[in-house]
Amino acid sequence: MQSNKELVVEPIGLDVETLPKPIDWREMFGNDHPVEMEIGCGKGTFITEQAKARPEVNFFGIEWARWFWRYTSDRLRRNNCMNARAVRADAGFFLREHVPNDSLSVLHIYFPDPWPKKRHHKRRLIQEPFLKEVERVLKPGGRLQVVTDHKDYFEHIEPVVRKSKLKVIDYNRPGSAAEGEFVGTNFERKYRREGRPFYAIAAVKE
Ligand SMILES: C[S@@+](CC[C@H](N)C(=O)[O-])C[C@H]1O[C@@H](n2cnc3c(N)ncnc32)[C@H](O)[C@@H]1O
Repeated sequence: MQSNKELVVEPIGLDVETLPKPIDWREMFGNDHPVEMEIGCGKGTFITEQAKARPEVNFFGIEWARWFWRYTSDRLRRNNCMNARAVRADAGFFLREHVPNDSLSVLHIYFPDPWPKKRHHKRRLIQEPFLKEVERVLKPGGRLQVVTDHKDYFEHIEPVVRKSKLKVIDYNRPGSAAEGEFVGTNFERKYRREGRPFYAIAAVKE
């Protein structure tokens, strides 16, 4: 027989194949708390810290790389973050197929892969069709937050966000970010040590 601990912690790292289309957040988390999503959660530093600091919020991480997804899921489990889940999936696909309309209170995207070569720009996550999905999945009053160190990618992101139906607002540092940090992810910490500048944008669904 499984112990209680095994029974409760097992669903943190999710298999996308088993998830309904669309997901019912209430059913997944067992409550009506607001849901914040992080795309590309990497090693899970941000989502783990946030889930620990704000138990009244549900957190959902999407990570494409299997190794990082496992790392994040394991970290959430070790920290007993029952208000968080992580799935291994492509974020564009996942939003389109699984995320209900008007259901997210915040969408966090920190240090998305910049795909610096021109011929790879089409692989960048933040494009006009992606913004359409963001407009659809945010709740009224919900917001998108993006931070990058990559000037050229930011010069692409900013007009795409400004062209969308979202309204650009002041960037809102998450409460648990350390002094001087935009958000407190692994990449931010690494790039800060290298002295790189950062670019941030936030926008709200009215
Ligand atoms: C540069 S890392 C940043 C990780 C973390 N946000 C941080 O700041 O430390 C970008 C992450 O996004 C993930 N990623 C890239 N494209 C993705 C996609 N389409 N869907 C989900 N995750 C993606 C990568 O596997 C990688 O872990």
